[in-house]
Amino acid sequence: VLCWFYIFPVYRLPRDKDIVEEVLRQGDAWQKNQTGIDLYRKLLTDCCDPRRMFAVTKENSPMGKVLWYDGEFYHSRTVTNDTYPLFVQDNPLQLPLKRCAVVGNSGILRHSQCGHDIDQADFIMRCNLPPLSKEYVEDVGTRSHLVTANPSIIEKRFQNLLWSRKAFVDSMKAYGSSYIYMPAFSMKPGTEPSLRAYYALADASSNLTMLFANPDFLATVGKFWKARGVHARRLSTGLFLVSLALGLCEEVTAYGFWPFSVGLDERPVSHHYYDNILPYKWFHAMPEEFVQLWHLHKSGTLRMRLGHCP
Ligand code: CTP
Repeated sequence: VLCWFYIFPVYRLPRDKDIVEEVLRQGDAWQKNQTGIDLYRKLLTDCCDPRRMFAVTKENSPMGKVLWYDGEFYHSRTVTNDTYPLFVQDNPLQLPLKRCAVVGNSGILRHSQCGHDIDQADFIMRCNLPPLSKEYVEDVGTRSHLVTANPSIIEKRFQNLLWSRKAFVDSMKAYGSSYIYMPAFSMKPGTEPSLRAYYALADASSNLTMLFANPDFLATVGKFWKARGVHARRLSTGLFLVSLALGLCEEVTAYGFWPFSVGLDERPVSHHYYDNILPYKWFHAMPEEFVQLWHLHKSGTLRMRLGHCP
């Protein structure tokens, strides 16, 4: 035991129970802190330039540009005429965005009644093509403006789009005319499914616009949080989106970020609001990410909603 203590002596994450107590102590008290908001926007602009860099665009990734995969060492893809025409011209978002809601997928959203609150935001970001079916509407809302899609979902849920593309195109209708934000250049095996998803939507004249996450942006955001104590192979999608929102929005509210198995009422909480499939343990460090988000909440830089919405 002593030996382990000497190897990992400095940092211990609080236990789930301690976090519950801390959140309950804080209660609903929250005060917006414009200085904190401005500071984080500046820090994120200086490190990562989200306005210009969050997506791969014709402007930041011209023909011949080498895109380095952020999730793999020494893999790259040069922009040629097989990918360049698929990129949007420039950042398509109308900036600045005003009140943004970033919705994680935690089971804490179940029975939260936060759907109305979420739907009131000016710009709503969601993770990993989450279900928005009737049974969840009261808790998570219906509207969305930017929805991420990991290539692994295309593989698992839609047979890599090698067979029918109709089920995919139909299920995407739930996201209205959102931007679909895919990390196409993070891991090599993710590129082809992402390009296929682009063509499936384009061929169906879908209202959705595909945006490919810029691997340089993802890498710089990863470094930003690493320097602040988030040690994981990769940041979670939710933290990437919160970082994007802090860079682009005047106000950020985060819902559905609670990677713990007990809730504020000390009852069990499922991992997702729609199932209880646990993530691969060593890939993300969601509890560490939560601690960072909680600091930002306490400092008034963003607001986290963890309980019932009024
Ligand atoms: N999340 C959370 N607590 C949970 C579940 C999810 O805080 N119990 C947040 C995380 O930031 C996560 C996001 O919500 O990235 C979306 O959840 P999910 O779809 O489960 O993400 P993962 O599948 O784990 O994958 P990834 O983050 O790699 O996209």
